[in-house]
Amino acid sequence: FGNNFESCFTINSPIHITNITKIVHNISHPSYPPILYSSIQNLRFNSTNLKPHFIITPEHPGHVQAAVTCSKCHDLQVRVRSGGHDYEGLSYKANTPFIIIDLINHREVRIDVENGNAWVQAGATLGELYYKIANVSKNHGFPAGTCPTIGVGGHISGGGQGTLMRKFGLAADNVLDAILVNAYGEIVDRESMGEDLFWAIRGGGAASFGVVLQWKLNLVPIPPQVTAFTVMKTQNQGATQLLHRFQQVADKFSEDLFIRPMIFVRNDANGTKTVQVNFQSLFLGTVDKLIPLMEQSFPELGLKPQDCREMSWVESILYIDDGFPKGESIEVLLDRNHNVNKGFFKAKSDFVTEPISENDLETIWKVMQDGESGIMIWEPYGGKMGEISESETPFPHRAGVLFNIQYFKRWQEPGNETEAEHLNGINKLYESMTPFVSKNPRTAYLNYRDLDLGKNKNGSFSEAKVWGEKYFKNNFNRLAKVKGEVDPENFFKNEQSIVAPNVSV
Ligand code: FDA
Repeated sequence: FGNNFESCFTINSPIHITNITKIVHNISHPSYPPILYSSIQNLRFNSTNLKPHFIITPEHPGHVQAAVTCSKCHDLQVRVRSGGHDYEGLSYKANTPFIIIDLINHREVRIDVENGNAWVQAGATLGELYYKIANVSKNHGFPAGTCPTIGVGGHISGGGQGTLMRKFGLAADNVLDAILVNAYGEIVDRESMGEDLFWAIRGGGAASFGVVLQWKLNLVPIPPQVTAFTVMKTQNQGATQLLHRFQQVADKFSEDLFIRPMIFVRNDANGTKTVQVNFQSLFLGTVDKLIPLMEQSFPELGLKPQDCREMSWVESILYIDDGFPKGESIEVLLDRNHNVNKGFFKAKSDFVTEPISENDLETIWKVMQDGESGIMIWEPYGGKMGEISESETPFPHRAGVLFNIQYFKRWQEPGNETEAEHLNGINKLYESMTPFVSKNPRTAYLNYRDLDLGKNKNGSFSEAKVWGEKYFKNNFNRLAKVKGEVDPENFFKNEQSIVAPNVSV
């Protein structure tokens, strides 16, 4: 296998390698730092000492196979990175000797309009996917996240929620096939990996099972014109009452209508702190259809035609991401750094099944006003999300969920004290939400990764079940069984990777 990693790689690559330094970047090579930092979103992990021995930037599937084979031989863990958006940095840091397989050069998107599907390499971003769909068709879209710089590799394998989910489900619900390098270094597709593994990588986090090279996606029908709006309300303008009403109606809206409240505290010039709610929305149709629909389903919001902007679906991606300023070109979707406001951040998540009363909302506002708690984003469920069974994919948060909450705290100044203050703020808000969210277990969304839910320390199944049931409920047991079958030596592992049931330490 070669006495060092590089020679192992050269020998095991099925493709002849002329210049190894273009593909295997060792720590002393000038290409190493720019690649390492290129897609790190969370600056909390930018200065970590937990750096990889090598970064591999595969140009061919065979390079991924060689990376897996040689990591095994050299006792190195593998971290796979597509877009680098993992909230806890699991795609690029580890406290054990490891390599990163960074799929930055593996991002071709091939759209087949006639058959309504697309093959997308895992290193492509959502922005690249959305742009390329729009480039060939005004009548197709894909239901996935709202941030264009996310990588399809991590995002789809963890679920993938966005503005189209009430009509079409998650990104993971719209995967038709996948190509993966498994724990034996073999390239498999849906047929050869089998339905259990294919099930697991659509919401269970592919990092526990292999390296996804490509997804085959089902494109969904989109009208040529959609409508977007953002209505902003403060406490004094009835935000609390509107949010209370929102919880009773949002999951029952027409599937064409998606409204997500973004709740935060505004610091006014006179020193007062006011809760503000931005109701941000996408409607799959024109304004003349939206206004009567809103009058019927959520008249309290008082939506007027002048609040609304008609645009194409691909433009709505930019509207949701950056407000789609006049004159902006959709070409920015191809920019992997577009609107990336790199900072330090922490996220957590919850699912809500019972509306929170106005009184309780007022109590929550006090907690938000007292500390640095950040923003809450409430993503409405219902529609298609409620029609898919809990066990259809590993993502179990389906019928009965009114909305998902993402807690998100961002800050710009470095330093441990500052970090502690901000973490304390988000933790207090999360704590105060306990009575109002799902229980036994208190559930969470894998893509909003939160290591506070638990980590693998001794590597046992029972330890992994603690955090695993929060993300996956009963599906955790099936994920563990699949893990035992496809990766019995537990080669693909991280702080929150699936552990097989027979592993008890
Ligand atoms: P990254 O490369 O960091 O990978 C994340 C995880 O997947 C890691 O465990 C990694 O090892 C693994 N992985 C990556 N590529 C893989 C591959 N090819 N094969 C196997 N494993 C692989 N979510 C959402 O649902 N809707 C949204 O709108 C948003 N919005 C959003 C905005 C911002 C600013 C951030 C930072 C995050 C989000 N997210 C989100 C969360 C996002 O979906 C989540 O972080 C994804 O895992 C990111 O996927 P990346 O490939 O970018 O991350």
